[in-house]
Formats: sequence, C-alpha cells, structure tokens
Amino acid sequence: MSDSPEIHRLATLILLALGVVTMLALGFITAPYGRHTSERWGPTIPARLGWIIMESPAVLVFAWIYMQGQHRFELAPLALLGMWQFHYVQRTYVFPFRTRSDRRMPVLVCLLALLFQLLNAYVNARWISHWGDYGAWTGDWRLWLGAGLFFVGWGINFKADTMLIALRKPGEDGYKIPRGWLYEYVSCPNYLGEILEWLGWALATWSLPGLAFAFYTIANIGPRALDNHRWYRRTFADYPEQRRALIPFVL
Ligand SMILES: NC(=O)c1ccc[n+]([C@@H]2O[C@H](COP(=O)([O-])OP(=O)(O)OC[C@H]3O[C@@H](n4cnc5c(N)ncnc54)[C@H](OP(=O)(O)O)[C@@H]3O)[C@@H](O)[C@H]2O)c1
Repeated sequence: MSDSPEIHRLATLILLALGVVTMLALGFITAPYGRHTSERWGPTIPARLGWIIMESPAVLVFAWIYMQGQHRFELAPLALLGMWQFHYVQRTYVFPFRTRSDRRMPVLVCLLALLFQLLNAYVNARWISHWGDYGAWTGDWRLWLGAGLFFVGWGINFKADTMLIALRKPGEDGYKIPRGWLYEYVSCPNYLGEILEWLGWALATWSLPGLAFAFYTIANIGPRALDNHRWYRRTFADYPEQRRALIPFVL
C-alpha cells in the first residue's frame, strides 16, 4: 500500500473533524433509522441489509488493510486486530439477524455510514499494523487496561441490545419500556457500553486514530441517546422519572 505518515495523519484529522461535524449536525437533526426512521430522506432499503452493507468495510477492508502492514505478524497488533474483529463481526453479520425488526433505513444513511467506515478502517487498521509502533506493547498496562475496558463495554452493549431485542415476541413490531439491570438507571445502556468499548480501544492503542474513533462514537450516539430518551418520555406517560439518558445519575 503506498501511503505516507502525512497522508495517514491527514485522514486521521478528517476523522476527527467528522466527529465535530456529526456532533453539531445531530444537535439539529435525528439520524433517521430505527425508531426514528423516515421516508423524507429518499429511497429506503431493509435495515438488516443496510447494517450488513454499511458495517462490512469495518470487517473486510479493515482486515485487508491490516494485512498490508509491516507489523502484521506482531503480537500486540494481532491482539488489537482480534478485539476489533470480535466487535465488528458480531455487529455486521450477527446483530442484524438477532433483531426482531423489519424496519427500513434510507439508502443515504447506509451510504454515509459506509463511507465513514471506509475511512475509519483505513485510519485504524493502517495505524495498528503499519504506522504505529507496538513492538514492546504487550508488557504495557495501557494495552491490558484498555482491552479490559473494551470487553466490559462489549458485554454491556451486548446484554443491553439482547434485552431490547427480547422485548418483542417473534412477529411483534412495537416498542415497550425496557426494565431491569442498567435500564433502571439509563435509557440507552447499549450506547453507554459501546462508548466504553471505544474508549477502551483508544486506551489500548494509545493513539490519535483510536481517540478519533472514540470521539466520533461519542459524537454520534451521545446525541442519539438524548433523542431516544426524549422519545421514550414522549411516547410513554409512565416512563420512569429518575431514569437518565446515557450516564447513570448524570446525563
Ligand atoms: N459506534 C457507533 O457510532 C454506533 C452508531 C450506531 C449504532 N451503534 C450500535 O449499534 C447497535 C444498534 O443501534 P441502534 O441505534 O439501532 O439501537 P436501538 O435503537 O437501541 O435498537 C436496538 C434494537 O432493539 C430494538 N428496540 C430498541 N428499543 C426498543 C424498545 N423499547 N422496544 C422494543 N424493541 C426495541 C430495535 O428495533 P427497531 O430497529 O425496530 O427500532 C433494534 O432492533 C447498538 O449496539 C449501538 O451501540 C454504534
């Protein structure tokens, strides 16, 4: 692959800038998928297919770029690759088939997410396998603490999604108030888990690319947690008063 540290740095800065733009934009609009899906954003496709298409670069392109790197057979980069793929294989090829949702999503949402994941795959995969230096990293506490946080976040995200999915019996389509576990504290523990995961990734990689993606995740699903929370309050008159949106007791 013929790039340079300058090109990679520029791509990383663009990823960071996208985080800022996304956070500002989501202050005015609500991303139209899931419960907020809308026909006003042009043609739509089945959301299940949309998830597979838009997240696939995070699995396939990421792996391909990783394999071009000079450090691809070193232990720490391989461990980081494993963490990334552990998350994204589930998100791309398992999660869409676990949901009990036949909703559609705008092609535009799918396309924008796909472009984002192409950039994200380049920035993060190229860093861990080529431009970053993780030669002595297996003995560093940041890798282990970051990996620990990543897997705790993954567990929270997975369990929270599983509880939401289980709210519908096969064939049902509506929404219910989730109850129990972290749902007693926040409306969106799945987003909280996802944010912890990518903060763990940022720590484990100790890099600007890792930080850029963690920041983007916060910029993207932070506002969505607030939107979902407002939606729950609007939709259910008996929605629990004390429940926050994203961070227990705080937000
Ligand atoms: N890293 C990132 O930037 C990023 C961005 C977006 C999403 N994600 C992750 O992708 C996953 C899915 O995101 P999402 O925004 O689609 O999550 P979501 O709105 O919480 O929905 C998750 C699933 O549960 C269903 N569901 C949600 N609330 C429900 C309720 N009250 N009653 C019954 N069913 C309910 C949804 O059905 P419907 O689809 O029919 O609403 C969907 O199948 C999450 O784990 C999230 O963390 C990550």
